[in-house]
Amino acid sequence: MTILDGKKVSNDIKNEIKAEVDKMKANNEKVPHLAAVIVGNDGASLTYVGSKVRACERVGFESTMVRLSNTTSEVELLDKIEELNNNSDIDGFIIQLPLPEQIDTQKVLMAVHPDKDVDGFHPMNFGKMALDMSTFIPATPFGILELLDRYQVDTKGKHTVVIGRSHIVGRPMSILMGRKGFPGNSTVTLTHSHTKNITQITSQADIIISALGVPNFLKAEMVKDDAVIIDVGITRVPDETKERGYRITGDVDFENVSKKVSHITPVPGGVGPMTIAMLLKNTLLARERHNN
Ligand code: GUN
Repeated sequence: MTILDGKKVSNDIKNEIKAEVDKMKANNEKVPHLAAVIVGNDGASLTYVGSKVRACERVGFESTMVRLSNTTSEVELLDKIEELNNNSDIDGFIIQLPLPEQIDTQKVLMAVHPDKDVDGFHPMNFGKMALDMSTFIPATPFGILELLDRYQVDTKGKHTVVIGRSHIVGRPMSILMGRKGFPGNSTVTLTHSHTKNITQITSQADIIISALGVPNFLKAEMVKDDAVIIDVGITRVPDETKERGYRITGDVDFENVSKKVSHITPVPGGVGPMTIAMLLKNTLLARERHNN
């Protein structure tokens, strides 16, 4: 059994990105600049954005965190986005999700200029991804592809089952795994809350990508021997033995599932760190594209 070590691979990627940035600095070129907009005080979102800013520092990028109050109106947020679109110093930016309920998320994501949309959430970029055109691939799916690539996991002709159809992970993942090329060329089944007999489907899967957010959902009896398991779940479960009062739990019953599979991602230390590394990669791409 091989652990797909996202912590190690993401560190390798960050080192590669840092080497690129060092070259830019040596040539007196402008380094990539990522901005992150966060609206409100959601604890998990603040943690994620904090990690993104720290990752920028680590690789030598410039970063800007824009904090807006929970009562920000849609118009105020759209004005901020317009300002970031027009700020030539900023190569890419993200709007951390979820947004407060007074704000229409789709409208906001459509306002981000596609050339600065390093999350790959704009319909233009999502469409390009589906059409195999060069674009920003959403960071979590991009990270999963990179992990499969670096461990040379064979995906061609395999049956990939994706659990969950979110716009951020499940839906794009189902498209990417079925695309031509590597990693891809899979036969994909996208399952969701209306799927019947999910065990019957998962137990036929060569590769399972679970992005559901239900702790310990995927049990050993739902998985065939030697399957490849990618666990995207990062649910906070109350835990008084931890100083911060919670622990992070994946969708997979790791203890039992790991005994029968060929590859598996741990939580934490699997997909999570890859997401941040690939956001940096997209920001580097944005900088390079702005140069051209
Ligand atoms: N919320 C959960 N995941 C993500 C992500 O990848 N990007 C943004 N912007 N918000 C998120």
